[in-house]
Amino acid sequence: MGGIALARTVVAITGASSGIGAAFAKRLAPEHDLLLIARRRERLDELAREFSHREGSQVEVIQADLTVEADLAAVAERIANEERLVLLINNAGFGTKGRFWEAPLESQENMHRLHILATVRLTHAALRNMTPRDRGGIINVASVSAFVRSPGTTSYGATKTWMTAFTEGLYLELRGLGSNVVVQALCPGFTYSEFHDAMGADRSRLAGPAFWLSAEEVVDASLDGLRRRKLFVIPGWRYRLITAFLSAIPTALRLHVEAIAGRARLEQMPAPDVSKQLQ
Ligand SMILES: NC(=O)c1ccc[n+]([C@@H]2O[C@H](COP(=O)([O-])OP(=O)(O)OC[C@H]3O[C@@H](n4cnc5c(N)ncnc54)[C@H](OP(=O)(O)O)[C@@H]3O)[C@@H](O)[C@H]2O)c1
Repeated sequence: MGGIALARTVVAITGASSGIGAAFAKRLAPEHDLLLIARRRERLDELAREFSHREGSQVEVIQADLTVEADLAAVAERIANEERLVLLINNAGFGTKGRFWEAPLESQENMHRLHILATVRLTHAALRNMTPRDRGGIINVASVSAFVRSPGTTSYGATKTWMTAFTEGLYLELRGLGSNVVVQALCPGFTYSEFHDAMGADRSRLAGPAFWLSAEEVVDASLDGLRRRKLFVIPGWRYRLITAFLSAIPTALRLHVEAIAGRARLEQMPAPDVSKQLQ
């Protein structure tokens, strides 16, 4: 007897080739088909093989550099036209080392393109698709850096703060309509992934072991929060305490605390070459 083939819903994940994005893909593969997006095609192909073999998930790999206009437009179009889309996870991101004006301008601009412009474009495509069906969700992977400033991470903190403000605005717009579409700002602290390797940062000098989360812990907290329709998800009680404290105190006191906490990070940065700047 022929059964009815119930269509599986589709989840789109940017930055799915490693770390938190790959962990989201692993958790969601048993129940969903996946659109996996990143620059490293071979990594995505490997995950696609694993999930289609083990989980029976249909996986589409999209090789895209989301800082490149043509790639971003192609991904946005794919998301806009996916009728089974149920979740978009704007996760692709990276960090840089060094004071803002000393780090290469290109990397700072690309960070804004990836964290802000790609999030704008893909979220617009996804919400136009989801809101008429009144179903679905967006997870924007921000960071505790949205609440905590630190020297050497100026663009990173600013773009992640933008992501949380953007998500809050969407939350209010959707709530005003009584929409069932859910948005979440996921704000992890230090997480084991390729993020700090890509930056060339020494993990042991950034924080003690108690402050490091696994990508799976972050993803489980996020998906639990999604089920409970939580706007902000900050995995780990230590980070919830720190962000609550820093959000509650006056700005001048917060900046004083952050300047002291940021000394270790500043010590890792080379002293500025003032002679060059004066030329
Ligand atoms: N690790 C942490 O401590 C931490 C803490 C707070 C927040 N976060 C945030 O979590 C998110 C995921 O980071 P992660 O920790 O999982 O680091 P990761 O392992 O380095 O993963 C970053 C992902 O982003 C993708 N990506 C980077 N640039 C891209 C571009 N131009 N176009 C398309 N994809 C791009 C990378 O794939 P390709 O290289 O293959 O393109 C990779 O899949 C980021 O937004 C990060 O800011 C991380």
